[in-house]
Amino acid sequence: MDVLDNIYENIRKTVIDCGELMLNANKSNISIRMKEGNGNFVTEYDVLIQNKLQKELLELMPDAGFIGEENDFQKDIKNEYVFIVDPIDGTTNFARDIKTSAISVALLKDKKPIFAFCYNAYINEMYEAKKGYGAFLNGREIHVSNKKLKEGIAECGTAPYYDDLKKRSIEIHNIFASIASDVRRFGSAVIEICNVASGKAELYFELKLMPWDYAAASLILEEAGGTIKTIEGEHIQFFNPTSILASNGLEDYSKYIK
Ligand code: IPD
Ligand code: CA
Repeated sequence: MDVLDNIYENIRKTVIDCGELMLNANKSNISIRMKEGNGNFVTEYDVLIQNKLQKELLELMPDAGFIGEENDFQKDIKNEYVFIVDPIDGTTNFARDIKTSAISVALLKDKKPIFAFCYNAYINEMYEAKKGYGAFLNGREIHVSNKKLKEGIAECGTAPYYDDLKKRSIEIHNIFASIASDVRRFGSAVIEICNVASGKAELYFELKLMPWDYAAASLILEEAGGTIKTIEGEHIQFFNPTSILASNGLEDYSKYIK
């Protein structure tokens, strides 16, 4: 096993341990702090899990950079390797005990994800991918669906923290709802993109996400045969906020919303 394979296995172990913290959280007495934006908050468990990830991932790769949702956002990281993590994606679900949240860890090399883990501890679903080696859910290889939107499911993000994007989010939701067989909204970008990767849904859009919301899931989706672009059909990057249109790649879905 080479050094990077060993690191891959150790990242997975850390993510699974963080899942235990999520499952054992005492929700009756949780400390919550508001962040910038509408309804955007952080619980003590977001911080606890991020601290554990930061400590243990940097022990594995001391020279790597680290971007996490609960730190100040650093856009101009120069390290060859960078971790991008979301300790709890779906914080509102977590705080309200809706059991649909995931721990997300990506390792980037030269600004592109090479390792990815998205773990919904509540239902013990571990999505993972290594660039060039396919995507897996609990060890089973996954692929996007071959359904077109007409017979498919569109997952519609609401950009909840940005009041100025609500109207447009609803317009796009309505367009997809009028074409697709049905729509869904789970409240975790990570889980929604992984749903597309594993063929449970055909597309997911959101008008503004941060890199930790999609860095790991984007590799899982691409390794499963899907496509992830901006809503305008541009390539995505991992160091600035962006819109996201993630899909099975069967159609140019952006044409519906131009
Ligand atoms: C949020 C969730 C949500 C999405 C937001 C994200 P958080 O992440 O993924 O589904 O609509 O845009 O910011 O705040 O729960 O980590
Ligand atoms: Ca998130």
